[in-house]
Amino acid sequence: MQDSRDREEWGSRTGFVLATVGSAVGLGNVWRFPTIVARSGGGAFLLLYLVIVLAVGIPLMMSELAMGRRSQKGVVGAFRDLRPGTGWWLAGLVAALAVLLITSYYSVIAGWTLIYTLLSVAGGISGLGSAGLTELFAHLTEDTLLPIYGQGIFLVIASTIVFYGVTAGIERWGRILTPGIVVLLLVLLGRVLFLEGGLEGAVWFLRPNFAQMSFGVALEALGQVFFSFSLGMGAVLTYGSYLSRRDDIPVNSLIISLADVGIAVLAGLVVISALFAFGIEPEAGFGLVFIALPAVFNTLPGALFWSTVFFLSLSFAALTSLISFLEVLNALLIEERGWSRPRAVVTVGVLSFIAGIPSALSQSLLDSVRILGWDFMGLTDMVASNLLLPLSGLLTTIFVAWVWGTPAAEEEISLGAVSFRTAPLWSFIMRYIAPVALTYILVAGLIF
Ligand code: PHE
Repeated sequence: MQDSRDREEWGSRTGFVLATVGSAVGLGNVWRFPTIVARSGGGAFLLLYLVIVLAVGIPLMMSELAMGRRSQKGVVGAFRDLRPGTGWWLAGLVAALAVLLITSYYSVIAGWTLIYTLLSVAGGISGLGSAGLTELFAHLTEDTLLPIYGQGIFLVIASTIVFYGVTAGIERWGRILTPGIVVLLLVLLGRVLFLEGGLEGAVWFLRPNFAQMSFGVALEALGQVFFSFSLGMGAVLTYGSYLSRRDDIPVNSLIISLADVGIAVLAGLVVISALFAFGIEPEAGFGLVFIALPAVFNTLPGALFWSTVFFLSLSFAALTSLISFLEVLNALLIEERGWSRPRAVVTVGVLSFIAGIPSALSQSLLDSVRILGWDFMGLTDMVASNLLLPLSGLLTTIFVAWVWGTPAAEEEISLGAVSFRTAPLWSFIMRYIAPVALTYILVAGLIF
C-alpha cells in the first residue's frame, strides 16, 4: 500500500516499546493482577498466564500492530482501508466507543490517584490508619466537585502530552514515565521485602499451587491478558500505525508483552508482600489501592515518602494508559474529519471530561441512581469492558483471520522481521484459537 509517509513515525524503537508498554501497564496491573495471582495458584497461575500470553496475547498484539502499520490508519480507517466498501469500519467504531467510555471513568480514577499523590506529599495521608483511610476515601468520592477537579486536571495533563504529537509528546513522555513506574515499584519492593514477613509473602506469591488450577482460572487469565495488553480498543493498532516498515513486529510484540508481564509480577510482589506482612487478605479494586496498601505504608518510618512513591507509581501507570486512549480518538478525528491535532486534542479532552462527569458523580450526587443495580461508573465499566471491548476484539480477530486474511497479514508482519517462522502457528491461532478464546471472554463477561 502507500509508502509515502505523511504520517508521523516513532523516533526510535525504544520509544515505541516504552509507549506501548505504558499503555499496557495500568491500574489493572496493580489492583487486579496481584489479587488474581494470589487467589488462583501463585506460580502455577503465572505459568498458565505466560502460556496464554504466548498463545493468544502476542498473536493478537501482532495482528493489531500489522493492521495499523499496513493501513497507516487508526481504528476506523484501518478496517475501512483494508476492506474498502464493506461495513467493517463499524468494528472500528465499536472499539472507539469502548475507548471513549473507558476514558470517561478511567480519567476519574486517575484523578483520584493524582489527588492522593498531592495529599500524600502534603502530609495528609501518612498519619492515617485503616479507619482514617476508609473515611478519607469516602470523603473524596462522596464529594461533588473534588473528583471532577481531579479528573479535569488529569485530562489536561494527558491531553497536553498528546497535543505535542507522537514523538515530541507520547514517545518523549513514555520514555520517562514507563521506566519511572518500574523504578518506583522497585523502590517499594526494596522496602517491603525487608518487612517482617515480607519475603515470605513474596515466596508465597510465587509458590506454584496446582490444586487451584481450573477452567475458570484459565478463563480469568485469558481475560486479564486481553485487558492488560490493551487489546480490542485500537490502542495497539493506532500505535502500530506509527511504526515503520523496518520495525520488527514479532520481536517487538514479544518484548512489549514480556515487559507488561514483568511489571505486573513486580507490582504483585510489592502488593502481596506488603499485605502478607500484615496478614491482610488481598481484595482487588479501590479498597486495595486507596485503603489497604497505604495503611501498610503508613506504619513504616518515613510513611510520607512511601505513600507518595506508591501513589506516584499509580498516577504514572494511569497516565501512560490514558495517553494511549486519547490518541486512539485523536487519530480517528484527525484522519476521518481532517482536523488539526490541536482541534482533535481539545475536542477529545472536552468530550472525555463531559462523558466522565456522571462517573465522577456516581458516589455523590448520582449515588441514588442505579441502572440494573449498577452505579454509573460500574455500569460504564461493565458495558465497555465486558461487552464492547471483547466484542471489538472478536471482530478484529475475525477481520484479520478471515476478511483481510492471514496471508496478507503474514506478509505485513514479515516486513522488517528478522524471521517469522512461527507464521503457520500464528495463522492457526488467529483462525481458530483466538476467535474461540474471545467468544469465551465475551460470553463469560456477560454471564458472570
Ligand atoms: N491495560 C491497562 C490496564 O491494565 C489499561 C486498560 C484499562 C485497558 C481498562 C482496558 C481496560 O489498566
